[in-house]
Amino acid sequence: MTKLALITGGTNGIGKAVAYRLAKEGFDLIITSNEILAEEPVLEIRNLFHRRVNILKSDILDIDSIKTIDGFLNENKLKLDALIINAAITYRQEFEDMDVGLWKNTFDANVHYPVFLIQKMLNFLNPGSAIVFTGSLMAIHPHSVSLAYGVTKAAVHALVKNMVKFLTPYKIRINCVAPGFVDTDWQKTKPEEIRKHIENKLAENRFCRPEEITDAYSFLVNNNYVNGEIIVIDGAYSYR
Ligand SMILES: NC(=O)c1ccc[n+]([C@@H]2O[C@H](COP(=O)([O-])OP(=O)(O)OC[C@H]3O[C@@H](n4cnc5c(N)ncnc54)[C@H](OP(=O)(O)O)[C@@H]3O)[C@@H](O)[C@H]2O)c1
Repeated sequence: MTKLALITGGTNGIGKAVAYRLAKEGFDLIITSNEILAEEPVLEIRNLFHRRVNILKSDILDIDSIKTIDGFLNENKLKLDALIINAAITYRQEFEDMDVGLWKNTFDANVHYPVFLIQKMLNFLNPGSAIVFTGSLMAIHPHSVSLAYGVTKAAVHALVKNMVKFLTPYKIRINCVAPGFVDTDWQKTKPEEIRKHIENKLAENRFCRPEEITDAYSFLVNNNYVNGEIIVIDGAYSYR
């Protein structure tokens, strides 16, 4: 039977690369985004891999918007085999200028939305299914001016470890990929001087391409034993 994966933030960057990878492996897909403008990945996945793809609007800043996903799965009597919790937000602010509203938004989007998404998805995840988070090197190696982001990603890493106990009775595994510097819009918007500084600390002297980390997602989705792990892929950042 065809397997189904749901990917949050699957329209761009890492999420899009994971969507292509899982479609290539034969998964049908539901991808979410905060805007349903990105028809291009949907059409391309359909054409290239002949998989069913649906795109849903669910804003990670609005926990209520999980209802859209819940409603769609219910209406179409669908069950999931993989849940990739990838979408996240950041605000780059100096500590002195930090705004309490933006701090809370970051926690809502990166921690609270995922927790309550998992809670809702318990009704839909098949036994044997896998949850894979996109964490971050910034959870482990503090960097730059995104304090709330680093702290929320550390919470994500802790969540992955803590959730094993709760998910095991459902026969669901949970793991995480923690990328370092992947060349998506997220990084492309950084000033050239900062990008150069980062590149100088990477063994390959370049940012990672999104498709270079999709092996890890595939492994975590498909391997039945690995559970509660954080796989760091950071190009040996700070090796020098
Ligand atoms: N790039 C890196 O170097 C790096 C490193 C470590 C971790 N990460 C993590 O990787 C994940 C993906 O980042 P990326 O680099 O692939 O970024 P990206 O290219 O900007 O893609 C972000 C994705 O998330 C969606 N998204 C953004 N805001 C959203 C919202 N409010 N509600 C729902 N969806 C939303 C976007 O949809 P739209 O296109 O519709 O906005 C897009 O599909 C994030 O968890 C990030 O923390 C990235």
